[in-house]
Amino acid sequence: MNNKIAFIFDLDGVIVDTAKYHFLAWKNLANSLGFDFTKEQNEQLKGVSRVKSLEILLKIGNIELTDEKKQELLLKKNEEYLSYVNRMTSDEILPGVTNMLNFLIENNVKFALGSASKNAPLILDKVGLLNKFTAIVDGNHVSKAKPDPEVFLLGAEKLKMDPIKCVVVEDAIAGVAAANAANMISIGIGDSDVLKDANYVFEDTSKITTAFLKSLIKRNE
Ligand code: BG6
Ligand code: MG
Repeated sequence: MNNKIAFIFDLDGVIVDTAKYHFLAWKNLANSLGFDFTKEQNEQLKGVSRVKSLEILLKIGNIELTDEKKQELLLKKNEEYLSYVNRMTSDEILPGVTNMLNFLIENNVKFALGSASKNAPLILDKVGLLNKFTAIVDGNHVSKAKPDPEVFLLGAEKLKMDPIKCVVVEDAIAGVAAANAANMISIGIGDSDVLKDANYVFEDTSKITTAFLKSLIKRNE
């Protein structure tokens, strides 16, 4: 095993595009509460925990609720979200991801998942990737959300790797900030203007070449 470098992947927006399912479920919840919720507003929820997402949504709708009612809505939202997740297959793995994971496996580079989602293991299982990861850190394991580095530091610990030898792959500003705060190398997936704090940015994972990965591995040997 190459112990000089390891990767930690975000899930939503990097491995699969679950943001569209989160959006549908939050939008239906907003509509049932009497207000609309747009795709633009949904951007504010990317990388954000479920509880924090509800707070943002209720603020948009200018609605105040009891803790009991909030718990009920969180359950309702997650039930609808899971109805979409349960229909997911490997077809929904984003372009370039399978090739990149296979390249890392062939080159004996370990990788973990570092996600805010409490549904992460189920989603990885649905798309057939669960057993490829050496370690999983998800929303059930952390108390502080990204941009706090906790999720990635825990990932490095589980991989038995020094944080400065870990490369994080992230699509959210908060995720890139968390990787940088953990002293890790950050790869942003998306718009380079938005993810300007990342060490490297690629439009999507299929744009990450094996030549780039090889040079990254070599530089850390
Ligand atoms: C993050 C998503 O990965 O997980 C957020 O980007 C989501 O949109 C968060 O709110 C929590 O997900 P879950 O599956 O625990 O509701
Ligand atoms: Mg993400």
